Amino acid sequence: MTSSSAPQDPAAPAAKAPKDPWDLPDVSGLVVGVLGGTGEQGRGLAYRFARAGQKVIIGSRAADCARDAAAELGHGVEGADNAETARRSDVVIVAVPWDGHAKTLESLREELAGKLVVDCVNPLGFDKKGAYALKPEEGSAAEQAAALLPDSRVTAAFHHLSAVLLQDASLDEIDTDVMVLGEERADVEVVQALVGRIAGMRGVFAGRLRNAHQVESLVANPISVNCRYKAHAGLRVTDI
Ligand SMILES: NC(=O)c1ccc[n+]([C@@H]2O[C@H](COP(=O)([O-])OP(=O)(O)OC[C@H]3O[C@@H](n4cnc5c(N)ncnc54)[C@H](OP(=O)(O)O)[C@@H]3O)[C@@H](O)[C@H]2O)c1
Repeated sequence: MTSSSAPQDPAAPAAKAPKDPWDLPDVSGLVVGVLGGTGEQGRGLAYRFARAGQKVIIGSRAADCARDAAAELGHGVEGADNAETARRSDVVIVAVPWDGHAKTLESLREELAGKLVVDCVNPLGFDKKGAYALKPEEGSAAEQAAALLPDSRVTAAFHHLSAVLLQDASLDEIDTDVMVLGEERADVEVVQALVGRIAGMRGVFAGRLRNAHQVESLVANPISVNCRYKAHAGLRVTDI
């Protein structure tokens, strides 16, 4: 029987203190690219990151459109076609409509190799009853991205943000949490840290990619909230 007063074996390895989940890396030097960056969500994210001091490139299927949108955004945002955006960025956010998701990623497999990819695509349908979740064959948009990009590090985040609020220059802060999903803790933490660059936001680890479907689908609920209450609802995770 051992007792608590037994002398400790000096050769035994010291117990490792658990890592502080809010101890996140410095991501201020990373270049953030946004595929589909001329759209509502893409422009909103680009604006917020650039305003926070991050280097941002927005992508488009047409480089001219991206350059025009970038000039409107200011804050040093650059525009390029999606392939160049992917090549020049460290972290690449996928902000194209679900309809164009697979085709876009398939065509950029090479440029996205080795990159940290952040998927924010919500596969949704709309009918006269409102928004509803679609069921991608792979489980979720994020899992489709992971399947199509075996040489990239795929994560998922930014699903529940209001593009209207992101683009509203009169708002200094956006009051919301962002659920971040991924397989590798180091990758998730980079995305959490990026989220934290936007005033008012926290990035919260919310599981592996196999749980991305619920997060993507949940967007149908805030859309209903927004319609009823004429709002731009965000989400908070409590007790953390
Ligand atoms: N809007 C929001 O509030 C919000 C919030 C959270 C997440 N999201 C997600 O973010 C994604 C983008 O939403 P959005 O509202 O920004 O969409 P959007 O404005 O309709 O489209 C974004 C951009 O994607 C490009 N695009 C359009 N069709 C495409 C296709 N078939 N293939 C490749 N690129 C295409 C277009 O850029 P170019 O023509 O310049 O290539 C367009 O400007 C969606 O998947 C959505 O679920 C949106």
